[in-house]
Amino acid sequence: MKSNASRHARSVALLCVFMLLAATSSLWAGGKKEKAPEVDLTEKVVLLEDFEAGVGGWGARGRETVEVSDKSALSGTKSLFVSGRKSTWNGPIVDVSEVMLPGESYKISVWVMFQEGPETQSFNLSMQRIVDGIDATYATIGSDRIAKGDWGNIVTNYSVPVSKEPSPLSFYIETPYKNDDAATPNDLLSFYIDRLEITRIPPAAPPMVEKDIPEFHTFFKNLPIGAAINVDDINPRGEKHGLLRHFNVYVHENDMKQAYMQPEEGKFVFDKADALVNYAAKNKKLARGHTLLWHNQYPAWLTRDPADPTKIASKEVLYARLEKHIKTIVSRYKGKIHSWDVVNEVIGEDGALRNSRYLQIAGSEEYIANAFKWAHEADPNALLFINDYSIEFSGAKQDGLYNLVKRLLEQGVPVHGVGLQAHISIGHPTVSDMRTAIRRFAELGVKVQITELDMSVYASGNEAKKEATREVLLDQAGKYRALFQMFQEEADAGNLQMVVLWGLADMGTWLDNFPVAGRTNYPLLFGKDLRAKPAYWAIVDPSKLPIGIKQGEVISTKELIKTPDDTKWDFVTARTIEDRAGKVYGTYKLVWTDTTIQALVNVFDKTKDASDEITIFIEPKNLKEAKVGPNVKVIKVPRSKAVADTGETWTALVDIPFAGRVASKIGFDLRVTDGKNFYSWNDLDHTQDKVTENYGTVTFKILPPVTYAKRGTPRIDGQIEKLWDTAEKVPLNVKTQGYTLDGSTFRALWDDEYLYVLFEVQDALLNDNARDPWEQDSIEVFIDQNNGKTKTYEEDDAQYRVSFRNKASFNGGSEELFRSRSRIFPGGYVVEVAVPFTHLKPAAKALIGFDAQVNEADASGTRSGIRNWVSDNNMGYQDMSVLGVMMLID
Ligand code: XIL
Repeated sequence: MKSNASRHARSVALLCVFMLLAATSSLWAGGKKEKAPEVDLTEKVVLLEDFEAGVGGWGARGRETVEVSDKSALSGTKSLFVSGRKSTWNGPIVDVSEVMLPGESYKISVWVMFQEGPETQSFNLSMQRIVDGIDATYATIGSDRIAKGDWGNIVTNYSVPVSKEPSPLSFYIETPYKNDDAATPNDLLSFYIDRLEITRIPPAAPPMVEKDIPEFHTFFKNLPIGAAINVDDINPRGEKHGLLRHFNVYVHENDMKQAYMQPEEGKFVFDKADALVNYAAKNKKLARGHTLLWHNQYPAWLTRDPADPTKIASKEVLYARLEKHIKTIVSRYKGKIHSWDVVNEVIGEDGALRNSRYLQIAGSEEYIANAFKWAHEADPNALLFINDYSIEFSGAKQDGLYNLVKRLLEQGVPVHGVGLQAHISIGHPTVSDMRTAIRRFAELGVKVQITELDMSVYASGNEAKKEATREVLLDQAGKYRALFQMFQEEADAGNLQMVVLWGLADMGTWLDNFPVAGRTNYPLLFGKDLRAKPAYWAIVDPSKLPIGIKQGEVISTKELIKTPDDTKWDFVTARTIEDRAGKVYGTYKLVWTDTTIQALVNVFDKTKDASDEITIFIEPKNLKEAKVGPNVKVIKVPRSKAVADTGETWTALVDIPFAGRVASKIGFDLRVTDGKNFYSWNDLDHTQDKVTENYGTVTFKILPPVTYAKRGTPRIDGQIEKLWDTAEKVPLNVKTQGYTLDGSTFRALWDDEYLYVLFEVQDALLNDNARDPWEQDSIEVFIDQNNGKTKTYEEDDAQYRVSFRNKASFNGGSEELFRSRSRIFPGGYVVEVAVPFTHLKPAAKALIGFDAQVNEADASGTRSGIRNWVSDNNMGYQDMSVLGVMMLID
């Protein structure tokens, strides 16, 4: 087969943006003006095959038949039909070597349809490349499962590798590989393909700081906002220089650490620190000093014996060196540094002093007290801080630092403030955790600063690399907004003095490749392109934010539900259609089978007329694009097709053919038409016919376990009164971690104010020695009052923990309203809790997200086991999507 795709290629330029790079810095060379290199930022279709004019460059891979057909078409009247396949790898193939160039990236989209055999079938888009004209490589680069009779779209990106010799590249469509002996007729079915579209993805535009947006720090009163910088940023030619104006405090990210300031004993290097301090003074900004003593980035000589560098230094030598280092630097910048991180990270994860070289040599916390005294002697007016991470939420480390500061203050050590580094993530800790931390330290009578704020988009070190999608950035923006609102409130209350971000922009963040190599992060207010991110706009001007993307779910069901009042619908959470003011116009629920999505829609509309209808939009790939492609399903149901209509509310039951699979996501929206008015679930601008980027996201799920709470108001006294017999005992059967005894249960009751949960825990050995409350023998309740199943905590989400000695701890929720009582019995303990409904008006049939947990401490006082009702991944403290469902019943 010889094919030449370019003969048939039609190139369509979509966007014509030619940018002249560095046009302003053109040079005169030999009297001639040299032109700057041109970068083609055009996004263009390099190949479009729709078979309207023939087979194009396509042929067969094996001995199957490949021909143009007019029996079915995605668009136009023709498509390409492949039949007579003998092996799974048989399928139509096209050579794309001449349109896809080495080193460039492309988006590839192709459509597939079949009409025989199974209800659904997977198809692969695969590539074949003859590397340097010799070795053939094959790889599947895209795949999808498609429902019979439906045109399904396979979309993927591909970057053409650079090679020494020309390396012919082809694409083909096949079914997943099976040995010929094992292949069934279903694997060898005939199918159609249509509309192969290959689009060049332009390289990203060069980063450019926006000059005409408001200065970030001006949005805060009596709360200076800073950023960590590098010396290049001070240089007006530095690419991030233009971002400095957004901040009124600067701190060196690295260049005032010990290793830089005194690389060899007695050889001080002041250039970069001078530059920072001078720039700040000249521009009437504040400077922070980071840091005088840390167990990282210090010079090796500092802790070594001067006579024998293989040995560690004596305490006297170390103290003399530290004193000289601290006094030399602090006195040089006397009056010019607003606050100093005198010691950094001196507490360990367990709350004890960090076992650093300093502690090993000094033997006690005396070295910390001395560091503060020396700094104070050098500049009695400077504010002196102790700085640390993972103290923004309650636990052993926060307790450890709190107690250390308290001791130092009692001894009269000049500690003026606590710096919370705040290297946080979208998931953890919650804003309420951080508020509690700020207040706790402020109550010690010291200043509190947020010193190194950034917000990772990853929940943990285990999470794989992800893109900074609009959804992710909007989630981050929401948390940044809530966080800065809290910061301003705490500043107004006199609890918080300053907030500093750890970097000017995502470009160059220290969280790229840390703590996971190869992973990119997006933790700050300005992007890798240096432009303001949604996080910035969420605080400065939320009206500039793109429409938010709501999360919905479609719950699996064995069979389609026949009527709107089938009780199966009761387990599916309704999503509401409301306007920007929060007025509700309808609700919908979704379920799915292997071949169909079923929607139950209620529209509240008292004025019945011919225009009344609903429109459902489904974009199968959740691509969120600035266009509506042929893949978007648009289903209209007029009021005349209602399955019920009370005159006030009309109800539609809609079946939509669709092959979903667990955990996959679709773009989804639902629009209500009432006369001239539109109301939508997600796209509040009602532009669903033009763009898919404002559709919500719906995830295919299996209904999580369900439990019930009976109506009733028990006394919270640790006694199991008769009323509890009406509630079903539910076993905690999920062994999340380690060893726990069988037989622990919970039961639930509810009334207008509270959800009551009674735990009966089997545990012969009770221990609460651990400092972290979750390490003690204790129970936990997770509650998601709107059953929103969000990946991060919203206002309605909370975690309550109570030890067997009735000591409560909180993550979100209401400490004021919560009540509990515990009682020890031989072989275990009982806890009765009253969890307030703060964001729900409870009623029969309401669904809430719920899980119950038991933490088991061993004899040494550390947690040795966890047991749950539903979730087995121990992520409930930041992720509501892992909870089960509880229904309130009469
Ligand atoms: C980090 C810098 O951002 C990186 O560039 C460097 O490689 C390592 O140090 N806590 C601190 C900061 O106190 O000094 C650290 O800064 C981040 C964690």
